[in-house]
Amino acid sequence: MKAVTVVPLMKDSLALREMPKPSLGKGQVLLEPIEVGVCGTDKDIIEGKYGAAPPGEEYLILGHEAVASVAELGDGVDNVSVGDIVVPTVRRPTTCTLPITELDYCPRGTYAEHGIWYLHGFAAEYAVSDARFLVKVPKEIVDVAVLTEPLSIVEKGIKLALELGKARFSSWSPRKVLIMGAGPIGMLALMVMRLRGFTDVTITATRPYDSPKAKLTKEIGAKYVNVNVDQLSDEFDIVIEATGSSSAAYEALRHLSADGVAVLLGIYLDSKVVNMVPLLDDWRRNKLIIGATNASIGSFQDGVADLVKAKFEFGGWVRKLITKEVPLDEYEYAYYWGHDDIKSVIQIRSL
Ligand code: BGC
Repeated sequence: MKAVTVVPLMKDSLALREMPKPSLGKGQVLLEPIEVGVCGTDKDIIEGKYGAAPPGEEYLILGHEAVASVAELGDGVDNVSVGDIVVPTVRRPTTCTLPITELDYCPRGTYAEHGIWYLHGFAAEYAVSDARFLVKVPKEIVDVAVLTEPLSIVEKGIKLALELGKARFSSWSPRKVLIMGAGPIGMLALMVMRLRGFTDVTITATRPYDSPKAKLTKEIGAKYVNVNVDQLSDEFDIVIEATGSSSAAYEALRHLSADGVAVLLGIYLDSKVVNMVPLLDDWRRNKLIIGATNASIGSFQDGVADLVKAKFEFGGWVRKLITKEVPLDEYEYAYYWGHDDIKSVIQIRSL
């Protein structure tokens, strides 16, 4: 079968290679991936910054954001049926002993991740997953379900922000929201905040006011600001950092109001400014900081539920977040997205 692969830690080893079709073990499901999304983590792996092949193998199949159909069931599988549309979660425990609903809290080194660490991903004609980690998707959202994995992390961050914010004092009532970055994570955060009833939402990004990102932001009733965030004078009750830049994470704290909650959703490989965080002021003013880069199955289920709601409330808006679709044979183009792209996907089978 054809698969998008790298030799982990070897820069620019990305290639479509012929790989053996995976065989099915007990409790596993054979998947036919439909669409696979591409994100900054894939870019980091392609650049040789991290990632690992399954033990004893040379190549790693990429792809941890996927929607697939169930093609075959291994022995003992009874939670899905052939033909179901599913989204697989990413992380699998190796020595981690936490329950399946809490695997995002596994200590480092106690898990594997499909398409990232020690397990093949889904950017291939076939893939296997343990059946317990599959989330069923209603057919009416198959065209946007590839967004479920990045959305799961947004769901986790926002749920924690709202619940923990309130757990401190029950009259906390956040109103003003700032989202930094109009990439897939920022736009999905916007979608979730609008679904939760927040009407005062501002997105900051670098694209001009007539750009597709600015238009999409305005289309669901949020404000778009293309100044550098350090030029903003307002303070916000919730700030969601979705650029992945550590200096933006620093700005996120600067724009947080007293009692505010910051949600940092990036992987800050460039974390050079962390020691500049204005600790004294933040601590004295009861600011809360939440970080999330991986989510467990419950957040994937929340994501699926929100995609169904968003389809009802915002119509075709969600699908517009997928700005680039390429067939498997042209996989390379998916990994080079421009400033106006939001989510780039490889389409392996038609929807
Ligand atoms: C994925 C997570 C994963 C993280 C670190 C992210 O891009 O969405 O599931 O845990 O990378 O490997």
